[in-house]
Amino acid sequence: MFVASLYNLKGGVGKTASCVNFAYMAASDGFKTLLWDLDPQGASSFYYNAQPKAKSSVKKIMENELALGDAIMSTDYKNLDIIPADLSARKLDIVLDENHASKKHLSHLLKAVDDDYDFVFIDCPPGFSVLADNIFFASDAVLMPVIPTTLSLRTYDLVKNYFEDKNIGLDKLMCFFSMVDTRKKMHNEVMQDLYKDKRFFVYYVPYLSDVEKMGIHHAPVEAFAKSSYAAVCYRALWNEVKEGVLA
Ligand SMILES: Nc1ncnc2c1ncn2[C@@H]1O[C@H](COP(=O)(O)OP(=O)(O)O)[C@@H](O)[C@H]1O
Ligand SMILES: [Mg+2]
Repeated sequence: MFVASLYNLKGGVGKTASCVNFAYMAASDGFKTLLWDLDPQGASSFYYNAQPKAKSSVKKIMENELALGDAIMSTDYKNLDIIPADLSARKLDIVLDENHASKKHLSHLLKAVDDDYDFVFIDCPPGFSVLADNIFFASDAVLMPVIPTTLSLRTYDLVKNYFEDKNIGLDKLMCFFSMVDTRKKMHNEVMQDLYKDKRFFVYYVPYLSDVEKMGIHHAPVEAFAKSSYAAVCYRALWNEVKEGVLA
């Protein structure tokens, strides 16, 4: 089982859009896939029309009151299951702290489904937190979408420093560009600069209205616009990510 989290310190950078599309594409490649929505805003769950089965499911999972397997639901798509978010996810830092749980708690919980899935995608809330530390530890790869602006350079450095300070292992951090507008000089310059770092995938996600339309269709782009440029770009990026992480 390979655990990939979609993370960035910043919000609104395309974590959820990428998580939803990567999970769909992995499943359509034939991999048994689980998407765990750990962002209390529940956007991934919204795109997949998934409501949690029980109240405060996420908190109960973390407190060992609900088995991870019992919170899993199927989606409309073959090979793709989901653990939907609920508002209790906003208290996870307190839950994890109160239980004096180490950064390894989430990783232990995921062991219960180790044999059931090839890929687990975690949709993360932004920020540094006890939850983020748990997600980083549990992840084989932390996939970080980066909008190529100068402000993102600073965020990127903050995340890299955090990984170094916390001994997380910088090898886990794999980045890609998101919401790219190649007509913008700044986007091109920042991309050329960051590509030198060798931590970025070559393929990227352009700024495209079909990605925004996922909210209208409640579906990943390939499911409602298979031949669209957005679907083609996500597929090319996913193929590169897949090769990168399975290598
Ligand atoms: N490649 C893209 N092109 C256009 N809009 C996008 C793209 N990726 C995401 N969006 C839109 O930007 C907003 C934030 O994206 P989202 O994936 O929810 O970010 P995050 O999870 O990092 O907060 C959403 O409204 C989403 O539809
Ligand atoms: Mg999100």
